[in-house]
Amino acid sequence: MATQIRKSYRFALRSSLLITLLLGAVALLALLIAGQFQSYLLVLAIFLPAVFGVSFLVIQIRAEKFIYRRIKQIYDDVALLESSSLASAPITTDMKTLTEEIEKFAKDKKVEIDTLRIREEYRKEFLGNVSHELKTPLFTVQGYIETLLDGAMEDNKVRKKYLQRAAKGVERLIYIIKDLDLITKLEIGDMHLEREAFDIVELIRNVFELLEMKASKKGISLVFDQEYTAPISVYADREKIQQVLTNLVVNSIKYGHRDGTTEVSVENLIKNKVIVRVTDNGEGIAEQHLTRLFERFYRVDKSGSRKEGGSGLGLSIVKHIIEAHNEKIYVESVVDVGSEFSFTLEKAHPQKA
Ligand SMILES: Nc1ncnc2c1ncn2[C@@H]1O[C@H](COP(=O)(O)OP(=O)(O)OP(=O)(O)O)[C@@H](O)[C@H]1O
Ligand SMILES: [Mg+2]
Repeated sequence: MATQIRKSYRFALRSSLLITLLLGAVALLALLIAGQFQSYLLVLAIFLPAVFGVSFLVIQIRAEKFIYRRIKQIYDDVALLESSSLASAPITTDMKTLTEEIEKFAKDKKVEIDTLRIREEYRKEFLGNVSHELKTPLFTVQGYIETLLDGAMEDNKVRKKYLQRAAKGVERLIYIIKDLDLITKLEIGDMHLEREAFDIVELIRNVFELLEMKASKKGISLVFDQEYTAPISVYADREKIQQVLTNLVVNSIKYGHRDGTTEVSVENLIKNKVIVRVTDNGEGIAEQHLTRLFERFYRVDKSGSRKEGGSGLGLSIVKHIIEAHNEKIYVESVVDVGSEFSFTLEKAHPQKA
C-alpha cells in the first residue's frame, strides 16, 4: 500500500501528520493545564482529523503549485521538452518522471555534442589536408615564376623549361581542385546517377586506350585476362564507372613495378551481378593500411618525397561512386606481390540492353 501512495502525496501526508501530532500534544498540554481533560476526546475526534485534513490539502496544493511554478520555469529556461508534450500533459510534480526526462534530455544533448565534435574534427582535418595538398604545387609554381622574374627569363632554354614546370604545377592544382570538388559533391550526397545499359568490356577498352601512353612510359602492359568476344552489358552510370576504372588503372600504373602488368577481368558473380577486377603485380599494400585505404587523403606513403605524388582522393571517389550504385568494392593486396581491386555491377536486363 505504502508504495502505491504517490511520492508527491507522501510529503503532504507526512507533514500533515506531523502538524496533527504536534497540535494534538499542544492541545493535550493546554487541556491538562486548564484541568479540562475530559474535552480531550472531543479534540481527538473532531479537531485533530480536521487539522489533518486541512493541512494535508493546503500542503499538497501549495507544494504542487510551488513545484509546478519552479518546474515550469525550468522547462521554459532549458526548453526541456517539445512544447507539444508540455501542452498535452500537465507538468508533472512527480520527481521520478522529471528526473527521467532530465536524464533523457542530457543524454540527447550529449549525443548531439559528440556528433558536433566529430564533425568539427572532420572539418578541421579536411581543411588541414586541403591546404597541405595545395601548398606543394603552389610553392612549385611560385618558385619557378620567381626564378624567371629574377633573371632566368633572359635565358631562352631555361625559360621554356621553367614555364613548362610551372604549367605542370598549375595542372596539378587544377587536378586536386577537381577531385576536391567531386568529393565534396559526393559527400553531401549530391550524386546524380544516369544509369544506362552499356558494354563494360568496351568501356574497359576505352580506358586502356586513354591510359596506354602513361602505362607504356613505365613499360606496363594493360591487358584483359581473356579475350572478350561478346559484349557484357551492365546497368550503371557509364561516365562514373569510367572514372572508377580510370582511378584504379592509374593507381595500378603509379604503384606498379616497371615492366609490370595490369590485368582486368569481368566475371559473372551471381545471377544479376558481374564483378570487375583490376589486378597488378606492383608494390602492393601492407595489411594495416587496407582498412583505411578508401578514406579521403589516405596514402600509404605519406612522405612527400616519393615521385608518384597523389592527394589520396582517388580511392575515396571510387568508393563513393560504387556505393552510390549500391554495389560493393573489395581490395586484396600483398606487399611486393601486387594488389587486386574489385567491384560489383548490376547486369543489364535484356530489355534494357
Ligand atoms: N594498385 C595499388 N598498388 C599499391 N598501392 C596502391 C594501389 N592503389 C592505391 N594504393 C595506395 O593507396 C593510396 C591511396 O590511393 P588513392 O588512389 O586514393 O590516392 P593517390 O593515388 O595517392 O592520389 P590520387 O588518386 O588522388 O591522385 C595510395 O597513396 C597508394 O599508397
Ligand atoms: Mg590514385
